[in-house]
Order: sequence, then C-alpha cells, then structure tokens
Amino acid sequence: MTERIESVRHQLTEQLGRAPSQAELEEVRIRFLARSGLIAGLFDEMRSVPPAEKPAIGKLLNALKADAQRLYDEKKRSLEQSTQARVPSLDLTLPGRPRPLGTKHPLTQTMDEIRGIFASMGFSVAVGPEIESDYYNFGALNFPNDHPARDMQDTFFISKEVLLRTHTSPVQIRTMKRQQPPVREIMPGRVYRNEAISARSLVSFYQIEGLYVDLGVTFSDLKGILVAFARQFYGKDVQYKFRPTFFPFTEPSADMYISCFLCNGQGCRMCKFAGWLEILGSGMVHPHVLQNVGYDAEKYTGFAFGMGIERIASLRYGVDDLRLFYENDVRFLRQF
Ligand code: DAH
Repeated sequence: MTERIESVRHQLTEQLGRAPSQAELEEVRIRFLARSGLIAGLFDEMRSVPPAEKPAIGKLLNALKADAQRLYDEKKRSLEQSTQARVPSLDLTLPGRPRPLGTKHPLTQTMDEIRGIFASMGFSVAVGPEIESDYYNFGALNFPNDHPARDMQDTFFISKEVLLRTHTSPVQIRTMKRQQPPVREIMPGRVYRNEAISARSLVSFYQIEGLYVDLGVTFSDLKGILVAFARQFYGKDVQYKFRPTFFPFTEPSADMYISCFLCNGQGCRMCKFAGWLEILGSGMVHPHVLQNVGYDAEKYTGFAFGMGIERIASLRYGVDDLRLFYENDVRFLRQF
C-alpha cells in the first residue's frame, strides 16, 4: 500500500511538472482528485488494510491528498496569471488620443504672404549671407566712411571688415553684381542690430528687401507697386501716404505709412495717437549704388524698399511686444 501511495505521488508530480495546458491540468484533476480519481480509490482500499497499519497508512494518504490539492491549486493559479499577462486589457470604447496639429509661425506666415503678393507682380526671390563685409553692408550702399549714417544701424562687428548684416540691402548689391537689368527681386532674410532688447527692438529680426531696376523706372512705379502691395495686404480701402526721409542708398527716399487700421486714423495706442503707421522705407536707387555694381546710371533707374517683418506682423496681429515672436510659447503661437 505504501508503495502504491508513493507511485501515485510520483505520477502526479511528474504530470504537473510537464507544464500542462489548461485542458491538461483539468485532466490531471479528474485523474487524481475527482471523486472517482486515483486518490479517492486509495481511500476506498483503506478498508482492507490491517488495523495495526491503518494509522500510519492513513497519515500517508492524508498527506498525499493535501499535497495533491495544493500542487494542483498552485499550478492553476500560475497558469491563469500567465494567460492574463499575455492578453493586455484593451478598452475599445476609450476615446482616441488627439495629435496636436502644428501651424506655421506667424512670422513665416507673414513672410509667405508678402512673398506671394510680390511674386504675383513678377518679383522673384534672392538671398544673401548673414555674415557680410563692411563693403556690401555699407560702402557699396553709399554710406561714406565715418559718416553718421552708419550710426543709424548699431552694428555687430566680427572684425574691422566683417560684420553681421544690419539690413537686407547688401543683397541688392550682390543681386545686381550677378546680373544685368532688368532686375525685379525681393530678398527676405535675417538681420542683426546691436541694440538693447525690449518690447520694441530685438538684436535679430527679419526684413524683406525689394529691388526693381530697368530702363525708365520712375517714382510712380515705386508708388504703384507699393500701393498695390498695401491694398492686397491690408485691404483695398487702406489709406496711405509717403513722407520724405533720408537713406544713403536712395535719392529721393520716402517712408510709407498706412492709416491705422485699429482706430481708422482716429488715433490710438497702436499708432501712438498719430493715426498713421510706418510700414516701410523706400526710394529711387542712388546713382552711386548703380555705379558701384557697374550699371550705367545714365541709362538705368530703379527703386528699392525694405520692411521689417516683426513690425508688419505685430501691427497686423496687434502684438505689442516683439519678444513674444521668439519665446515659442505655444499659447501665443496657437492663436495664428
Ligand atoms: N535698409 C533700410 C533699413 O534697414 C530699409 C530700406 C529703406 C531699404 C529704403 C531699402 C530702401 O531698400 O530703399 O532700415
């Protein structure tokens, strides 16, 4: 009898040790633990065991039964746990995760729009380097050496001759040196000024330059193109005026103003109670500049203009602190 009990224990441990599946585990339960199983059969045989051996055999049998039940339970639990781990809980009713959509930076939007308007009037795009020589940034643009006009633009010098361009006007020189008239280009790009950073000024910002040189270009062409631009960009009813000013590289020179679109010319904080907003500088290309690039200044004339993108964008969107454009705060950027 003792041997039979040991044999059943041996079979049980062997079968449970074979990593049974759910179904195989159930077979093991029926074979050993069920009411008509092997262990119950051994209990039935207790009747024929001699009374003297009964206590010892009974003890062995009870131990077998308890061990079998415990081994079976453990196996079952670990099988359940591993199947749960394999099937991740998936709730198909949960809402999807929204992917936030990016937008173009307001300065890029403004530049794209301005570029598009000038493209529709036949202007193509040219670019030049941000690190310039003193000659392209100043000399070729008719800034005399040691002339106070250079102080209009506080300059970051890299060496005596090399600097970070203070405006996009040097690209005019590069463009004209590269090609003969007609020239009809706009030149967008980043410029640098050695100024204290504040709500109204930055050390680096964007400009778009424009240049049109050909036979017989006059100041009315300048007005015609710039007014057409302002009407497309600010609306066809925009009021404008040109006011004489000075730039070394243009003669005559004019600043262009539009009526303040916030207060309709009545005067408000945006236009500093003037009713007018300055949007760009312009003028007829100075004959010295044409000569500096090797053009015949008796034959050709042209006009040029330049505008600051941050300024144009800040007026358009009513942004009263230029630094906001560079802080990359998504709460600001999402509004455009
Ligand atoms: N370069 C000037 C500036 O940075 C802007 C400017 C004025 C550009 C008149 C021009 C122009 O081409 O004709 O302030």
